Amino acid sequence: MSAGGLDLSGRVAIVTGAGAGLGRSHAIALARYGAKVVVNDLGAAVDGTGGSPERASEVVDEIRRQGGIAVAEHSSVATPEGGAAIVQRALDEWGRVDIVVNNAGNLELASFAKLDVREIDKLFDVHLGGAFYVTQPAYRSMLERRSGSIIFTISGLATFGNLGASTYSAAKGGILGLMNTLKLEAARHGIRVNAIAPMAQTRMGDDANLYAEVSRRAGSPDLVSPAVVYLASDLCELTGEVWSIGSGSVARLFTGRTAGIFKHPDTEGDLTAEDIAQSVDLIRDTTSFTMPESWPAEWEMVVDLVRRQSGAGPASGWTEVS
Ligand SMILES: NC(=O)c1ccc[n+]([C@@H]2O[C@H](COP(=O)([O-])OP(=O)(O)OC[C@H]3O[C@@H](n4cnc5c(N)ncnc54)[C@H](O)[C@@H]3O)[C@@H](O)[C@H]2O)c1
Repeated sequence: MSAGGLDLSGRVAIVTGAGAGLGRSHAIALARYGAKVVVNDLGAAVDGTGGSPERASEVVDEIRRQGGIAVAEHSSVATPEGGAAIVQRALDEWGRVDIVVNNAGNLELASFAKLDVREIDKLFDVHLGGAFYVTQPAYRSMLERRSGSIIFTISGLATFGNLGASTYSAAKGGILGLMNTLKLEAARHGIRVNAIAPMAQTRMGDDANLYAEVSRRAGSPDLVSPAVVYLASDLCELTGEVWSIGSGSVARLFTGRTAGIFKHPDTEGDLTAEDIAQSVDLIRDTTSFTMPESWPAEWEMVVDLVRRQSGAGPASGWTEVS
C-alpha cells in the first residue's frame, strides 16, 4: 500500500473526527501509505451534538477492505479524559504514536452581536481543547522516542476571517498560537508540528456549494489528504508551517513583519503619533518583510535596531522554561 519515499509502514497514526469528511479521507490516505490508524469519531452532528459510533467503525471497515490496518475509537476529543483514551487506544493496540492529525471539529455560526457568549465553549472545547487534550498525551509518548509529526487543523477563518464565525475563528486562531509555541518546544526533541487550513466540500463546508458548476471533483476532501500524508512522512522536515490546501491547490500561509519604521529614542527623540501618521504607508508596505522564527527572535530584531545605532553590546537573552 505504500508509495515511493512516502512509506508510512510501521507508523501509528491517530486521526480525530475521522468518521466523515476530511478526517475520513486523511485516515484512508494514511492507511494506504501503510500507517496503522486509530479512527476516532464521536459520530456527532455538525454542531457537535449527538453521537453515533457506527461512523468511525464504517471507516475502519473501509480501510480493512482496502487491505489497511485500523481500529475505531469513539471518545470525544473535548475532554482531557477523552483525549487520553484516544491516545491510550493507539498505545494499547500498537505500543506507539507517530502521527497525530487533530481534525475533529464542529461549527455554529452567529453574528458577533447575536452570539450567546455563554455558549462559546461548545466550539472552544472541541477545536482548541481537543487540540490540547489529544496532542499532549501523544506528545509525551513521542518524547520517549524523540520523533513524531503533529498536524493541527486550523482554517482560513482564523487567518483571514469571515462573517458570523467569531467563535470558530477564535478557536482555530487559538490552535495557531498553540502550534507556534509547541513547534519551538517540540523541535528540541525531534518532533515536528504543522497546521493545515483545508478547503473541502464536506457536510461542514457544504453551504458554499462553490463547485456546483465548476467541477465535480474539486471540492473533494481527497484533494487535501495528500498534504497530510506528506507532512506526516519522514520525507518532510518542515515544522511550524501552515499550509492552505484544497481543490488541487497547496500554498503556504505565513505571518510576516514589514520593515516598517524605526526612530532611535536616544539619538532621534521619542516616537510620536505624528511620526506614525506620516509613515502609515511605510509601516504597511509589504515589499520587504521578515518572518521571525519566534517572538523572542522578533523582539531581538527590534533590540538590534536600537543596538546598531547606539553601539551597545548584545541583548541579555531570554529566560528558558523547561
Ligand atoms: N470543510 C472545510 O472546508 C473546512 C475548512 C476549514 C477547516 N475545516 C476543519 O476541518 C476539520 C474537519 O472538518 P470537515 O469539514 O471534515 O467536517 P465534518 O463535519 O464533515 O467532520 C467532522 C467530524 O468530526 C467529528 N467530531 C465532532 N466533534 C467531535 C468530538 N468532540 N470528538 C470526536 N469527533 C468529533 C464529527 O462526528 C465528524 O465526523 C474540522 O476541524 C474543521 O473545522 C474544514
